[in-house]
Amino acid sequence: MSELDKLLASCLSEIADCDNLKKIDDVKNAIFGKNGKITNIMKKLRDLDDNEKRKFGAEINSIKDKIWEQLSSKSYKLEIKELDKKLSSEFADVSMPIYSPSFGKIHPLTKVSEEIYGILSSYGFTFAEGEDIESEYYNFTALNMPDHHPARTMHDTFYVNMPADDKGRKLLRTHTSPVQIHAMLANSPPCRFFSIGRVYRSDSDSTHTPMFNQIEGIIVEKNVGFSHLKWLITDFLKKLFEVKDLSVRLRPSFFPFTEPSAEVDVNYGIKNGKIVLGSGSKWLEICGCGAVHPNVLKYGNIDPTKYQGLAFGFGLDRLTSLKYGVPDLREYFESDDRWRNAFGFPHVIV
Ligand code: DAH
Repeated sequence: MSELDKLLASCLSEIADCDNLKKIDDVKNAIFGKNGKITNIMKKLRDLDDNEKRKFGAEINSIKDKIWEQLSSKSYKLEIKELDKKLSSEFADVSMPIYSPSFGKIHPLTKVSEEIYGILSSYGFTFAEGEDIESEYYNFTALNMPDHHPARTMHDTFYVNMPADDKGRKLLRTHTSPVQIHAMLANSPPCRFFSIGRVYRSDSDSTHTPMFNQIEGIIVEKNVGFSHLKWLITDFLKKLFEVKDLSVRLRPSFFPFTEPSAEVDVNYGIKNGKIVLGSGSKWLEICGCGAVHPNVLKYGNIDPTKYQGLAFGFGLDRLTSLKYGVPDLREYFESDDRWRNAFGFPHVIV
């Protein structure tokens, strides 16, 4: 028996002895691996002359083919054997409930913020980012509430334990109106900005939370007046609430940063214990607005003899609870999964 025949016989018998897939793998390595039997024999080809190389090469190739054939047919048989073993020993309980992944829900406040982004952008408003920690100057002074102005006591303010600077003490902003000042200082008119963000007041019951969200809007342009503001707010509310014949009423009011100022009411009725906007003769207060006070324009570096300002401020939480019927504002911030499943919105994958 030639050396190659012996090699073939020993390889085939090793393959035949394998009784599991792990062993087949080891044998495959011992034959074709880096230091495998066939690999080492192939190395000998280098020392042969062309004639011998051709002859020896052809013999090795035929041996390799035979070994591969045995290896793959044995692997296949062992795979089937192992699968059969698994199927007969493992029990699959087909009555078990399947795992259904939870994708979470869009929070109603996020949903309404996105709707508002869409509507206000369509009027040419640009988003202006504000900061939760403000200084007294931007939160009060520049909004026409100088030191000791009685309006400052209207807000129960959380002061922050940080060093004061030339803009006064640091505080958690009590409204989004400081964004008006920052937006005016950073841009030149004509301009339209809006902002949506958290504000803080020391207040807590079913209709007040110490942190809530406001929407602020400001327009600084030439030749704009209250009628534009009324049209804008009316159109905005009709679009947001998707109620075509919503009635909107402006009531004279007072804010230090607007002159004149107004509060905006929408009509509603009660059906089956629920608020229905746009049907009925009751009025619900929904936002504050006004013509920006000339002092505020000056704080924003704008000449009040050349430009007019219009501003409005909504409570996002209020708008959201009216649109989607959320009864208690505190639930917005409790992260209760049951609540989120009831009031949240599915993700739309586009
Ligand atoms: N900042 C006011 C508040 O927190 C809301 C407001 C009223 C904003 C009138 C405005 C406005 O821009 O014009 O109660």
